[in-house]
Amino acid sequence: DMMKEVSGLKDLERKIKSLLDIKDVIVVAGDSDLSPWVKKEMGRACVACMKERLTSQSIVAVTGGTTLAAVAEMMTPELKQIDILFVPARGGLGEDVKNQANTICARMAEKAMGNYRLLHVPDQLSDEAYQSMIEEPAIKEVLDLIRSSNMVIHGIGDAITMAERRKTASEEIEKIKQRRAVAEAFGYYFNQEGEVVHKVKTMGIQLEDVKKVEHVIAVAGGASKAKAIKAYMKQAHHSVLITDEGAARELIRE
Ligand code: BG6
Repeated sequence: DMMKEVSGLKDLERKIKSLLDIKDVIVVAGDSDLSPWVKKEMGRACVACMKERLTSQSIVAVTGGTTLAAVAEMMTPELKQIDILFVPARGGLGEDVKNQANTICARMAEKAMGNYRLLHVPDQLSDEAYQSMIEEPAIKEVLDLIRSSNMVIHGIGDAITMAERRKTASEEIEKIKQRRAVAEAFGYYFNQEGEVVHKVKTMGIQLEDVKKVEHVIAVAGGASKAKAIKAYMKQAHHSVLITDEGAARELIRE
């Protein structure tokens, strides 16, 4: 649109798209590190992006995080026509309730007047408990829905910030640091090259599944996330990135 062309955001979008070599990029004005409302603007852009890409009867898998919480707040009832079923992308990752995928999934569905299903699994599971839980019919059913989702919307975080926020055990944090993780998304930690160096064990969508999903939208902004965005996108070329000017300008500077 005209406003974006005039403000130079379109130019930023083109630059970031070719720099990261990804499907599409949307850049909103501002820096979410400095102004919290910028997350809502990314949310608004994300909802528009969903509307453009979804047809009827869709399953949308979402992660947790403060950015996704802002996306949920911007969801509109017009999406009702599409008939969306919202599901959490993965099980417990060690987040506070307000940041959990289940919480955000339910909120999104409420705002979009869609339906939702939740995944009730504990954060830390022994192998044994894990094996028996995935056989539980009620859980299996939700896992099948998650696996057949045609859209995934997720956040991207700085690796250490996320590990600390999740109150990860100190040995695990050490491992994450030693392996030079810089990015985190849905429980996977990535190094600068975009290689997985650690992952939180939980059920739900796995990285291999994400690569097969038709529409993947990553929503992440703020100059402090530039490194993380760059690293994550190295292995996510078929994703759409919704970011802000703060992150975009920092990405170009790097
Ligand atoms: C988590 C997601 O809940 O939120 C991650 O699972 C993401 O994919 C993180 O890295 C980002 O959180 P925030 O609060 O920075 O949006």
